[in-house]
Amino acid sequence: MGISMAKRLDKVEDLPSLPHTLHKVLEGLDSVSASAKTLEGIIREDPVLTAKILKMANSPFYGVQGEVSSIAKAVVILGFEEVRGLVIGLSLTGTFGGDLGVEEFDAQSLWLHSIGVAKTAHMLATHINGCVPDELFTAGIVHDLGRFLLCLYFPSEYKAILEQKRQSGQPLFKVEESCGLSHAEAGAYLAKKWALSDMLVNVVRYHHHPGSAGSYSMPASIVFLADELCHKLKIGWDAKGEIGAVLVPRALGLAPETIKKIARKIKKEKESIEASWSKVLSG
Ligand SMILES: [Fe+2]
Ligand SMILES: [Fe+2]
Repeated sequence: MGISMAKRLDKVEDLPSLPHTLHKVLEGLDSVSASAKTLEGIIREDPVLTAKILKMANSPFYGVQGEVSSIAKAVVILGFEEVRGLVIGLSLTGTFGGDLGVEEFDAQSLWLHSIGVAKTAHMLATHINGCVPDELFTAGIVHDLGRFLLCLYFPSEYKAILEQKRQSGQPLFKVEESCGLSHAEAGAYLAKKWALSDMLVNVVRYHHHPGSAGSYSMPASIVFLADELCHKLKIGWDAKGEIGAVLVPRALGLAPETIKKIARKIKKEKESIEASWSKVLSG
């Protein structure tokens, strides 16, 4: 199935390239010496991104008194990590922001879902030894990239898959897999083409089957759980009743109380995440 998906994507000539800003952020900010100055420099090169970051920093979500008028100030007020996350999110939403051509999906709600998963994965990672929360944020943002590809490049087949999902009541990813058109495979293909890290490629490929991710099963399990929680809390795109009880991969070793605490925190932030990102995504 993976091979045929890859073969089909090999034939697509106009696949999007890795957003320039994202490339710089992932390259330049992974080093220990990465500083707020490096981040500011990357943002300043991109006027659209600069405008979006300032718009976001001034949204009620952050509750900042007075106007945030410079990137330097935004980094001081919002923090390095938060701004890094914004840059990653915004550079990707700029690439896949338009009409996806499939009624059940709109780019805005898919991105809200991905941002919710990124934030939740970041929080979960802070409770697990050996995980880098920033990396998990990035993994959350990109985990469903394949959905954008399938909507954009295989719209009629994807519509048929959605129809089959409606009729069978099966989870969408399972119907995709049985039809040989898996969003996880498609996303992993793009992540690889973009030369993202092996961790990111594997998390994208196995986020619905974290037990199969080999040495990346821990980050894949974190994104799996974050995905479950966001569907349960209906953040962004909603799987419409796919999720009953939230499945928690045992490998994570998280106490139920910790997961409940994180779910409560995300639930509390849901409205503000939706309000602030909707504003940026719609314009
Ligand atoms: Fe997914
Ligand atoms: Fe997802």
